Amino acid sequence: MSTLTMDDLKTATVQPRKAVLAMPEYHPPLAGRDALRLDFNENTNSPSPRVFAKLQKLTSEGLTIYPERQPVERIVATHFGLDVDQVLLTNGVDEAIHLMACAFLDEGDEALICTPTFFMYDVSISMMTSGLRKVQTDDTLTFPFERFLAAITPKTKLIIVASPNNPTGATVSREHLLAIAAAAPQAVLMVDEAYFHFHGETTLGDVGSVPNLIVARTFSKAYGLANLRIGMVVGDARLIGFLRKVSSPYNVNGVALAVLPEALADEDYLNWYILQVHQGRERVFTALEELGVRTWPSASNFILMDIGTKHKELVAAMRKRGVLLRDRSTDPGCNGYVRITIGVEEHVTRGIAALRESLAEIGWTPEEGRARA
Ligand SMILES: Cc1ncc(COP(=O)(O)O)c(C=O)c1O
Repeated sequence: MSTLTMDDLKTATVQPRKAVLAMPEYHPPLAGRDALRLDFNENTNSPSPRVFAKLQKLTSEGLTIYPERQPVERIVATHFGLDVDQVLLTNGVDEAIHLMACAFLDEGDEALICTPTFFMYDVSISMMTSGLRKVQTDDTLTFPFERFLAAITPKTKLIIVASPNNPTGATVSREHLLAIAAAAPQAVLMVDEAYFHFHGETTLGDVGSVPNLIVARTFSKAYGLANLRIGMVVGDARLIGFLRKVSSPYNVNGVALAVLPEALADEDYLNWYILQVHQGRERVFTALEELGVRTWPSASNFILMDIGTKHKELVAAMRKRGVLLRDRSTDPGCNGYVRITIGVEEHVTRGIAALRESLAEIGWTPEEGRARA
């Protein structure tokens, strides 16, 4: 029997699973965002004042105990008219996506998404199976319903659809989502409603009656709690049970759990923020039209714009003015496209002013924009 020496151990190269080597990497900036952040579709203002009031009351002893998720899941279930076993709170929708892939995908299973979309679907799915199928939108960036439906096979086990979608802002009707769920009874359909509040249409009311439907919501966007990392998945109790089984019992921190009921209760604040976004969205669309920049309809808190070959220059010129945008050029079908987040009035005003100056600086003319449309 041979034993490993210290030298053997030093030269041995530990390898992860093949899927980990092959999976794509998501590289959002993890530093250097000290500016007006119109790059990540966050709430640009703050959460409800009730959240701050609750934060003041938290004690240091509270930090020593493991967080208790269940009482807050009860409050959330009541708020949304669901049973507690139909609700799982997660460490953001990011974790929910990860749990979905872990719970429902074996190697060889197929999963289906429509691209361009939120990159974390690709990351989490590719970790579990090489069977990820992507249906690409055409230049309208609208959801290709017929082609998507045709891509479902008996091997499809997980389908994820974001409505509104990121980065396009396009929506998928409830009717189409229910048709997808019905066409794939062997699969779980996760409808990612991270941006639901800026649109208003939901499939949450179909939870319970559609057995293979799971709806995800985040508290990172309209509620302004991105830093606390909290989201939820709701669906059939049996399916949610599988997700609960693969999640850590302490996946959501106690600060997030303490403030979530306050955020949920303050509907006036939520509605105020949504109205700010609706008004700001119109202002940005109008400004971009005047500037001759091609855009796509958005039901969300961001707008995708076609800057063509000058996309990098625009992002740099905006950064110089203290405003961050997200270059989406590497997303499939998005060459030259840049995304701008819509926030509260003051930030929209600053964003539009910076856009006007930056486009002028990079030599953009309305004629150039119209020529691309
Ligand atoms: C479509 C979509 N889903 C989920 C998320 C992640 O949400 P969370 O902050 O809850 O992890 C994002 C974040 O940008 C998103 O765009």
